Amino acid sequence: MAQSNEGWGSRVGLILAMAGNAVGLGNFLRFPVQAIQNGGGAFIIPYFVSFLLMGIPLLWVEWAMGRFGGVRGNHSTPFIMDSMSKKRLWKYVGVFGIFTNLGILAYYTYIESWTLTYTLKSLAQSFTGMSRGQVSTMFDSYAGVHGTMTDALVAINIPGWAIVAFLVTLILNIYILSKGLSGGVEKVAKIAMPLLILFGVFLAIRAVTLGSTGMAGCSTCNSGIGLDFLWKPKLDSLANPKVWLAAAGQIFFTLSVGMGTIHCYAAYVKKNDDIALNAMSAGWMNEFVEIVLGASIVIPIAVGYMGLDWVKDNAGFMMAFKTMPFLFNQWGAVLATLSGVAWFGLLFFAGITSSLAMGTPFIGFVEDEFGWSRIRSSVILGVIIFVLALPTILFFEMGVFNEYDYWTGTVSLVVFASAEIILFSWVFGMDKGWKEITRGSDIRVPNFYKFIIKWVTPVFILTIFITSLVKPLHGEMSDWQLAFHQLFTHGSWPWANDSIIAQAFHLNQKWIWFKVGHPTVMFYKDMSRLLLTLTFAGLAVLVHIAAKKKRKTAKITKL
Ligand code: ALA
Repeated sequence: MAQSNEGWGSRVGLILAMAGNAVGLGNFLRFPVQAIQNGGGAFIIPYFVSFLLMGIPLLWVEWAMGRFGGVRGNHSTPFIMDSMSKKRLWKYVGVFGIFTNLGILAYYTYIESWTLTYTLKSLAQSFTGMSRGQVSTMFDSYAGVHGTMTDALVAINIPGWAIVAFLVTLILNIYILSKGLSGGVEKVAKIAMPLLILFGVFLAIRAVTLGSTGMAGCSTCNSGIGLDFLWKPKLDSLANPKVWLAAAGQIFFTLSVGMGTIHCYAAYVKKNDDIALNAMSAGWMNEFVEIVLGASIVIPIAVGYMGLDWVKDNAGFMMAFKTMPFLFNQWGAVLATLSGVAWFGLLFFAGITSSLAMGTPFIGFVEDEFGWSRIRSSVILGVIIFVLALPTILFFEMGVFNEYDYWTGTVSLVVFASAEIILFSWVFGMDKGWKEITRGSDIRVPNFYKFIIKWVTPVFILTIFITSLVKPLHGEMSDWQLAFHQLFTHGSWPWANDSIIAQAFHLNQKWIWFKVGHPTVMFYKDMSRLLLTLTFAGLAVLVHIAAKKKRKTAKITKL
């Protein structure tokens, strides 16, 4: 076990880095889209319940696990988990906490590079005078998207500038990571987080005060209508499992729980330093940014000019790049430039503070277990991310990007969170766990959370997991009833396309790899799955080697 020299420089730095880890593209691009697609105000209640019963408990659990492992010299989930149980299996479960980050980092850094390019384009006033169609086409040609993809026609893209921007973004991340936690990550968080909030507040004020834009023939072109749609709680979806799944999925992604980043950052906290208040400060800061700023920018502005129905039909994270610059143009040259820089700059800062966090578990692991230097670990991480990201760039339109997002950014988080909550509450034990959470605490953690962490959170997460696994077509309450009816009368199940089982086995689709001599979209998807599986297996082998080394060292020390 190598003794790490890493550590946080200050408490403010730690909280800002942890908040930066959570506040990301998910707050500004994913949250508004999820909210719109799941009925606006209907989404908010399940979202808050998921935050209170799953998000907050997981924050405390992951901070506690991280500090517990860190005190014992372990800074990544395989050996943090290993230190909490005698069973050897847990360290392999812990591989998820490195793997997930590598997978997400690959496509996340690519989006981050778009935001960098678009900040510069806004600064250079490249969008001035452009129509919505022109702005949209500009993005397609930048990212090499044809929009005409079919199975039989698969054109490989080599989007030159997008690749250059990706490399610049990746190198910047690696450079900052190589400077260490206090010398790199913390310094960036201290600059990026305040600027992000400043830019966000500027845009939110602009959006909220936009009101009716008087667009001809559009009665709902009013930013207030967009805000109303998002904020007026609707009770009619409380019994809709589809909305609950979406809300819980958003909580996972936005808080970065079930990922392994929080464990890693918290592993550098000292044994008796507070974690309970720190976890709440970072978690609530994320919620402020998400529900106050995230909800008050893209949707109200888009509704203001395009109307509520258009936004409902077209909401997607591409809107940020394909529509927003055109909407900013409506405010005149100066404000359009300022808003463009604020919007894409904000996205860039949100992205980089999260991608830095996703880089640290791998670095923590190889530093601890193989004694690599910080610089060497960072450079190797960069090479791995480059190799993993290349297919998402070149085969973007063949669904490789979405495939990564589904398996590493969605499924892995739920799988890992299910495992870690069982380990913490039931294997490690809630009494010991509670002591870990509350030791050195600067707040009184409400006692009922002991019950919640032991019972409610595991049941909540396992329900989410099982429901996602076998979700029936459409996934609404009545569809579940019909599905069970079908199961008992016909012995079959109407799988939803996005249920984990249907995705894994390509149910509801024909399994074809080649058509008229060309590889199909399914072929690219399967190859990307193979690459991700090999990545997981490679990490598991490294964990195995490290465990063997540890046992050998322990034997020698005993002699
Ligand atoms: N929590 C990060 C985000 O929201 C990953 O983007």
